[in-house]
Amino acid sequence: MIWKGVNAMPITFDQQHHVFKLDTSVSTYAFMVYQENYLVHLYYGAKLPDTDLSYLMYRGKFDSLSPYNPKVEDLFFSPDIQPFEYPTNGAGDFRISALSVRGGSGDAVTDIRYVSHKIYDGKPSLPGLPATFAQEGQAQTLEVEAVDAVTGVKATLLYTVFEDYPVITRSVRLENGGKAPVVLERAYSSCVELPTMDLDMVHLWGKWWNENNTERRALQHGITSIQSKRGMTGSNHNPFVAFARPSTTEESGEVWGMNFIYSGNFAIDTEVDTRGTTRVLMGINPTDFRWRLEPGESFQTPEAVLVYSDKGLGAMSRTFHHFYLDHLCRSEWAKKKRPLLINSWEAAFFDFDDDKLVAFAQEAKKLGIEMLVMDDGWFGTRNDDLRGLGDWYVNEKKLKGGLSHLIERVNALGLKFGIWYEPEMVNPDSDLYRAHPDWAIRAKGREHSISRYQCVLDMTRKDVRDNIFQQMYEVLSQNKIDYIKWDCNRNITEAASATLPPERQGEFFHRYVLGVYDLMDRITTAFPHILLENCSSGGCRFDAGMLYYAPQIWTSDCTDPIERLTIQFGASLCYPVAAMGAHVSANSRASVKTRGVVAMSGTFGYELDPRTELTDEEREVVLQQVADYHKYYDLIHFGDLYRLTAPTENPYLADWQFVSPDKNEALFCRVIMRRPPNLYQSVCLAGLDPDKIYVDEETGKAYSGALLMHGGIDLSAYDYANNYDGDSFMKHFVVR
Ligand code: DGJ
Repeated sequence: MIWKGVNAMPITFDQQHHVFKLDTSVSTYAFMVYQENYLVHLYYGAKLPDTDLSYLMYRGKFDSLSPYNPKVEDLFFSPDIQPFEYPTNGAGDFRISALSVRGGSGDAVTDIRYVSHKIYDGKPSLPGLPATFAQEGQAQTLEVEAVDAVTGVKATLLYTVFEDYPVITRSVRLENGGKAPVVLERAYSSCVELPTMDLDMVHLWGKWWNENNTERRALQHGITSIQSKRGMTGSNHNPFVAFARPSTTEESGEVWGMNFIYSGNFAIDTEVDTRGTTRVLMGINPTDFRWRLEPGESFQTPEAVLVYSDKGLGAMSRTFHHFYLDHLCRSEWAKKKRPLLINSWEAAFFDFDDDKLVAFAQEAKKLGIEMLVMDDGWFGTRNDDLRGLGDWYVNEKKLKGGLSHLIERVNALGLKFGIWYEPEMVNPDSDLYRAHPDWAIRAKGREHSISRYQCVLDMTRKDVRDNIFQQMYEVLSQNKIDYIKWDCNRNITEAASATLPPERQGEFFHRYVLGVYDLMDRITTAFPHILLENCSSGGCRFDAGMLYYAPQIWTSDCTDPIERLTIQFGASLCYPVAAMGAHVSANSRASVKTRGVVAMSGTFGYELDPRTELTDEEREVVLQQVADYHKYYDLIHFGDLYRLTAPTENPYLADWQFVSPDKNEALFCRVIMRRPPNLYQSVCLAGLDPDKIYVDEETGKAYSGALLMHGGIDLSAYDYANNYDGDSFMKHFVVR
C-alpha cells in the first residue's frame, strides 16, 4: 500500500460483519454485504468509529404487502423497505431504481448481487468522461462487483475517498457479461439513502440571464426530480443539490451536498417513501436514454461527487471549491493567475474591424488590462447572428491583413489575445451547412427546429468532430492565441443521428455529450497553454463536467452587479469563485465601483468600449480596481469564501468575505442594494483565527479575530442614507 494520507486507511472491509466503511476526515459512509449477497446501505454522515452497523439497515417494519426473498432468513428484510447501495428495478424494491436493464427475454427485471471487491490506492480515470483525479497517495478506491444472474450484467460500483477532503466520488461501470444483447434503461451514477425526511432540499434553478437562484424547501412525500432533457445542462436546474437539516445554517449543522460531473441530460431524483426515508439518485436522465450493450460491451456512468459537512452550507461549499481546483480542473490555468481581460461582445457586438479592436486594446492597455478577447463575429460571413456559424476561417473584410496581423498589433501593445468559438453549431446560411446539410441534427423525416437562427451539429459523429477540430486547429496553430471562449447558444431538438441504427437512437444524447468532451479533449490537449473559458449564453452549461476542461465559465449574460449577486451567490454553493466568469460592463445602473466589487469575486474582466463608455472619474475607479485585482487575486481565488448576508435573505445588503488559507488576511465585501432602514450596521466576520490580531488597513485599528467574529465590525460610518443605490465597499484586514 502506498497510501500517504494522514488518516488511517480510509476504506476498510470488516470481514466479520461484512461492512465496507469509507472514512474521510469528518464523515463515514458504510454499507454491507447481507444475506444472499444483497448490497445494503447502512450509513452516511458524521465520522463513526464502529463497524458493526448492520442494525442501521432496518428502517421501518415489514409491510404485509412487502415482497421478500424466501432464501433470506430474516423476517424483517424486504427489498421493499431496505436501503440499497445501487437499487434495481422490478425485484421487490418499488422505489425509484438506479439500474434497470432490459434483457434478452424482454423484461426489465434487474437484481444485482455482490460477487467480489477490491480496494486499491489511487483513482482511475473514466474513459471518455471528465472526472476527478488524484496524485499518488491522495486517494483510495473501492470497486465492488455485483452481478445480475439472469442477464449476466455486471455492475462495478466505484467509490473513491480523498486524503484531504470530506468527499466521496462515485460512478458505475456496467458490462454485459451475458450471451444476449441487453438495453440499459436506467443507469444512475449514485444512490444515497438518508434515514429521514426531516431535511431541506437546496437547489439552484433559473433561466437565461437569471441563473442560479437558490431554493430551499422541506422534503415532502413522493418523488421530486431536478433535471434537464435539453441535451445540455441548461440553466433551468443545475446538477447540484444539497440536503440540510432544517436547523442547518451557513456555518453550522449537517448537510449532504451532491454534484454531478456531467454536461448533458441529467436527473437528480429524490423519493421520500411512506416510512419517511429519503432516496436520492443522481445520474443520466433516463428520459430519452436507452443504451444497448452487446455481449462483452461496457458502459461507464459519469461521476457523482458527494460532500458531507457538519459545519453548514458554507463549509460544504468551501470543500467543493478547493476540491474542484485541486482535483477536477485539469487545466494548467486552474491555479495560475489568469490575465485580466477585456471582451468585445457588449462593447461592439458584431460591429468591429481590426482597427476598432486595436483601438480597444490601446485604451485597455492604459487601464492595465492584459488581454483582448475578440468575441463573436470574426469568421465567415458572420456580420450578425443570422449566418456564418460553422465557417471557422477569418473574415478578412473585417480583419484586414488577417488574424496574425491583428494579433501582432494587439501583442505589440502588450496585450494577449483571445478568440471566440461556437464549435457545436452551424447556421443554415453557412458554407459548412451547404456542403453537409446532413451534419445538422434532425430526426428522420422531420425538419429541425431553429433557435437563434442556428442548428446543432451532430457531435456523435467523428467525421463532424474531425472537420471542426481541423478548422479550429488551423486557426489556433497558425496564430498566437492565448484564450478561447467556447460558446453554445442553443439546445437540442429532434434528437437523432443519421449514423445510428434505430435500436441505438436512444444513445444519441449521451453520445452527443461524449462527442463534445472528445472535441474539448482534443483542443485542450493540442493547445494545453490556451486558457479555455466555457460559455452557453452565459451560464446555461455551468457544470463540473465543463470545469474539467475549462477552469472558468461565463456565469451569466446578465452583467448587472445587483442581479449578479444572486447569480454568483447561488453558483458559489458548489462552484469556486475562480470558475465564475464575471465582467464589468456598461450595462448597469450601479456604479462602476460596485460592478468591480462583484466582478472581482469572479474571474474579473471588462466588457465595454473603453474609449466611450467610461468617464474620466470612472477611469480612476477602474485603475484602482485593477490594482485591487492584483492585490487580492490569491486571497479571492484561493482563499475561503464566507457568505455572510445573502442578497435573497436581506433585501438591502449583501455581504461576503474571503480568508486566506493561513488566516493572516481577510477581505470583507458589501453591496448596498437599497437604503437599509437601520442605519446602525454591524457584521460579524467569519473564519478568522480568534487569537490573531487583525488590522483594518483603512483605519489602522486592531482587533482580535475573536472580537471581529463575535463582537463584529461597526459599519455605521458609511453614509447609507445617501449612497444606497447599488454602492459598495471592501475592507481589508491583515494580521499584525
Ligand atoms: C452568448 C454569450 O454568452 C455572449 O457573451 C456572447 O459571446 C454571445 N453569445 C455571442 O454570440
